[in-house]
Amino acid sequence: MSNVNIRTHPKYSNVYISGPPHNLKLYSKNLVPGNKVYGEKLITFKGEEYREWDPYRSKLAAMILEKPSVDFLSNELKCLYLGASSGTTISHLSDIVYNGIIYGVEFAERSMRQLIQNTKNRKNIVPILGDANFPEKYANSVFTNIDLVYQDIAQPNQAQIAIANCSYYLKDKGTLILAIKSQSIDSVQKPEKIYIQEKKILEKAGYKISESFNIHKYAANHIILIVHK
Ligand SMILES: C[S@@+](CC[C@H](N)C(=O)[O-])C[C@H]1O[C@@H](n2cnc3c(N)ncnc32)[C@H](O)[C@@H]1O
Repeated sequence: MSNVNIRTHPKYSNVYISGPPHNLKLYSKNLVPGNKVYGEKLITFKGEEYREWDPYRSKLAAMILEKPSVDFLSNELKCLYLGASSGTTISHLSDIVYNGIIYGVEFAERSMRQLIQNTKNRKNIVPILGDANFPEKYANSVFTNIDLVYQDIAQPNQAQIAIANCSYYLKDKGTLILAIKSQSIDSVQKPEKIYIQEKKILEKAGYKISESFNIHKYAANHIILIVHK
């Protein structure tokens, strides 16, 4: 038995918290009880099982701790997740969008094998082995319109990859959440300069940056943006 008191997050759908406001811990309700994805703690509270959500392992958790002004989550979201890796963040998103669907694109075969192994019991994840530079190549695996594109890809052309996928899949007024790693774009330039440059690329393509969060505290040289089409 655990003595952690878990409560619903006051703002973000299907996100749970414990602890005082200055030291919040995040959780998602486990869609596959008993199943861990990356060694996270499982906690049972009032008959429900929760998975602790580590902001040092998941940039989406880090962003939530930075308090975005709107609730961008819901249980029915249809998501395109670029850079799914072995399943850490996508598994929490899967807990959250339990009536929705997430198409998870990953190009490294080893990570894809781990992703499939780690998420095989999650019926709302569709793993896609593909290169996010070529969105049209996985069109035959994406069966719905997309409300949310989440991208966490360490590549020099991060903004361009996001734009290509959003033009192809994201519905009007849909949301893009984009993690930008300055080091992958240019390791010599100051990160702030690179962030400005990437934001300009998005704005030039007609996207509106609604919010920007510096998450250096959790992930070195990263910001994360909430962008609207
Ligand atoms: C930082 S990791 C993602 C971590 C993951 N989002 C999480 O929080 O659990 C970046 C991933 O993007 C993948 N990746 C990089 N370039 C890619 C591309 N062009 N298409 C698809 N996946 C790519 C890498 O193989 C790697 O697994």
